[in-house]
Amino acid sequence: MEYKIETRCLHTDISSETDGVHPLSVPIYQTATFVHTKIGKYGAYDYTRESNPTRTHLEEKISSLEHASDTLAFANGMAAITACMELFVPGDRILSGEDLYGGTNRLFHTINEKNGIRFDYADTTDLNAIETAIRPDTRAIYVESPTNPMMRVTDIAGAAEIAHRHGLLLIVDNTFLSPYFLNPLDLGADIVIHSGTKFIGGHNDSLAGFLCVRDPELGERLRLIATTIGSAIAPFEAWLTIRGLKTLAVRMERQQENALKIAEWLKNAPHVTEVLYIGLPEHPGYEISKRQGRGFGSMISFRTDNEETARRCLMHTKLISFAESLGGVDSLITYPLTQTHTAVSEEERQHLGITDTLLRLSVGIEAAEDLIEDLRLALEGDE
Ligand SMILES: Cc1ncc(COP(=O)(O)O)c(C=O)c1O
Repeated sequence: MEYKIETRCLHTDISSETDGVHPLSVPIYQTATFVHTKIGKYGAYDYTRESNPTRTHLEEKISSLEHASDTLAFANGMAAITACMELFVPGDRILSGEDLYGGTNRLFHTINEKNGIRFDYADTTDLNAIETAIRPDTRAIYVESPTNPMMRVTDIAGAAEIAHRHGLLLIVDNTFLSPYFLNPLDLGADIVIHSGTKFIGGHNDSLAGFLCVRDPELGERLRLIATTIGSAIAPFEAWLTIRGLKTLAVRMERQQENALKIAEWLKNAPHVTEVLYIGLPEHPGYEISKRQGRGFGSMISFRTDNEETARRCLMHTKLISFAESLGGVDSLITYPLTQTHTAVSEEERQHLGITDTLLRLSVGIEAAEDLIEDLRLALEGDE
């Protein structure tokens, strides 16, 4: 019998149990290396850059939550994405969603393009736009859903059907919804990416990244890349992430409940002109989100009437910290223009709507009423 996801956040059949000691909390194997008992003979582990029991425990847990055949755990989300891009060779083209986390955009433009990978961009909320942007050398479709920060939603099963008809991989960054609300592999994606720094870790105190796959052979290829480039998560960070995961279900539920209340309030809040939250029925991605996932998450972007209000709001919230990152139990407010998306060109930002009036909110687990009051005072300023 497979346990429900709330249970699997805590209890998973893990292959790396410890030698008869049975601790409830997985040990932190704080070791760089493992002893060889004879020449050419060692146990399941050899060297921590390649593998480590605490990391294996975390990887098996994420595989269970994402319905993956294999998961690789990295030091952070960017390390995971960098390793994923090593699947491609000079001349390959990647068709990417046009709205992306700024760090991913920078990786594509600065590192991957330098190494001969070429990128095409499309609005992946439109399946026709995906289909028509595919070129003979395209090898993969890369999407975030919902996107950071514009909250655009892609029909993942539709994108997978197109990808596979053209012999391409579908890669989905599932950071914003976490495996608790969405399992892209079940919808046909080939690789799922997470910044585990966000909802999976959940406490804004550790970094992690994941690549999850359905096909074990693809997992093997990625494992060779990860071992070779050496960007795996360290044992203590893996342990912190395992601890964070135990409360994933309750955090996601509470954060979503708060986000819905705040998004509803923001619709009529002073100086707010637009609210982007996929859990609002009027959001263009609402129906697809309902169909393909189990929830809407707790990321909201909103627009103020002018730049002055946006800046005032950032400087005046007291409970909601003005900081980059998202997904943790503490609410954060971010200015994509000067934080997460500084690396994106002015032209691209204008095209996407990442302007000086756009704010992004990651809703935490505080009392919704307190968060609303904090926002109200900050938006109103000294009026
Ligand atoms: C959607 C998304 N993917 C990937 C990353 C990169 O993750 P990390 O900061 O853990 O490297 C982020 C970071 O904000 C993100 O928002």
